[in-house]
Amino acid sequence: MNKEIHVSVSILAEDFSILEKVLKTVENAGGDSVHLDVIDGVFAPNLTFGPVVIKGIRKLTTLPLHAHLMIKDPEKYLENYINVGCSQIYFHLESEGNPENIIEKIHEMNAKCGIVLNPDTSVDTVKPYLKQIDAVLIMSVHPGFSGQKFIPEVLSKIKKLREISSEIDIAVDGGINDETIEPVLSSGANVIVANSYVFSSPDRARAVRRLKGLNE
Ligand code: DX5
Ligand code: ZN
Repeated sequence: MNKEIHVSVSILAEDFSILEKVLKTVENAGGDSVHLDVIDGVFAPNLTFGPVVIKGIRKLTTLPLHAHLMIKDPEKYLENYINVGCSQIYFHLESEGNPENIIEKIHEMNAKCGIVLNPDTSVDTVKPYLKQIDAVLIMSVHPGFSGQKFIPEVLSKIKKLREISSEIDIAVDGGINDETIEPVLSSGANVIVANSYVFSSPDRARAVRRLKGLNE
């Protein structure tokens, strides 16, 4: 089954004093959703934003908001993110808490649920949850910052996961650009997360088309 490619644009490294403009850029470039990197400085080495800021973001764009929670205890704050308008929640299997409970809570609130795997975490760890979740997000950099280099070893994880499931959404996050997109798509990913490649491109709409596997 060939899934349509969804491009989710991360705004992690952008200028939050001009958030409205940043979000319009994502819309005008043809991004399918906004990827929000929530980092608590404990789970990963950076501190970003939380529900208060996302509540404001919700008013500035009509695009779906996807929260990528890089926080120690995601279960504690899930509801806050869904209440301010996130339609999809990604939580790390490496964080604390019971994955079954987290998945259930997210679905009870009618949001979609994705499990995230760090570059060093095996695909086998997510197998027990595949039937209950909507997506698996494979990190292709270590969580924390935009602009890092793609870790090519994760390509075999994408392939392996696609062999296990033709249905599940496979998202890839980190270091995706003109060069790394081809092997990522041919390995079977169908949700592409990117920040620096899109924003640093002179033609952002073209960059998003490239991420969808289109040449022009
Ligand atoms: C890293 C974040 C990514 C990051 C991607 O912790 O999860 O979403 O913003 O940025 P680029 O595309 O620049 O690697
Ligand atoms: Zn992310």
